[in-house]
Amino acid sequence: MAPSPILAANGLKFSHDGQSVLRGVDVVIRPGEVTALLGRNGAGKSTLLRLLAASWKPHQGEVLLDGQQVLYDRTGRDRVRRRVQLVLQEPDDQIFATTVRADVSFGPVNQGLSTQEVEQRVAEALVATGISELAERVPHHLSFGQRKRVVLAGALAMRPAVLLLDEPTAGLDPRGKREMARVIARLAAQGTGIVVCTHDVNFAYEVASEAAILVDGLLESGPAEQVLSDAALMQRAQLELPWAPAVSRLINKPVTEVGDIYKLLGDA
Ligand SMILES: Nc1ncnc2c1ncn2[C@@H]1O[C@H](COP(=O)(O)OP(=O)(O)O)[C@@H](O)[C@H]1O
Ligand SMILES: [Mg+2]
Repeated sequence: MAPSPILAANGLKFSHDGQSVLRGVDVVIRPGEVTALLGRNGAGKSTLLRLLAASWKPHQGEVLLDGQQVLYDRTGRDRVRRRVQLVLQEPDDQIFATTVRADVSFGPVNQGLSTQEVEQRVAEALVATGISELAERVPHHLSFGQRKRVVLAGALAMRPAVLLLDEPTAGLDPRGKREMARVIARLAAQGTGIVVCTHDVNFAYEVASEAAILVDGLLESGPAEQVLSDAALMQRAQLELPWAPAVSRLINKPVTEVGDIYKLLGDA
């Protein structure tokens, strides 16, 4: 049986300036699942992440954390903040401190944890994101990819049950993307529920167990391999098929990774 959801949303509706962006969206996030949230630019992905993080309040519908409806007063938002961390696309929107260590410490310090606990969590988060050697550096002197890791480390230091990542690979080079995929896989293996919002369909295909496609304000969800291979749905969402299902379709044989192609070439 699937573990019970950490975070769920029912019938979310949201408009920007009277323009309907989400028209009744349901989401379920379970421990250890990686959900790829896809949609064309402007589909409403970032809006949905903000609703899931309780940064914004839905105009209709509800968000449930650990089975309990989220309330939008201070206590309600604090409850969410302790369990759900949102990492924005643009690192400079979330970096405030003058050293990496201070920035990553911010959340745990704010939670009133002991100095020892904060140090332990920060050290762990820096290792997990591969930036321990940058701890004393000034964040704004670092590269874009390094600054993205600083923000991710800050989120991890909160030991979130759910991690919401908005375009985690945007602006990263291939190596940065590979490392991001590895961090995501490791966190999921430890039981973190992860939502990766991206328009990089190949990255989604690689990291996700579930996929949710935003089309016209509604969400179509299911097992990643099935959803991301659904040519009609992907076309409706104005997305390309990931390369593996595209090749499968072309040669009418199952392909899920590069190795499959080499095997088929060997057979030919
Ligand atoms: N703060 C805002 N004010 C007004 N309109 C917004 C705001 N944020 C997003 N929008 C609009 O809402 C729609 C969805 O945006 P967004 O959630 O950022 O989409 P995505 O992340 O999928 O690209 C877009 O049409 C965008 O222009
Ligand atoms: Mg966005």
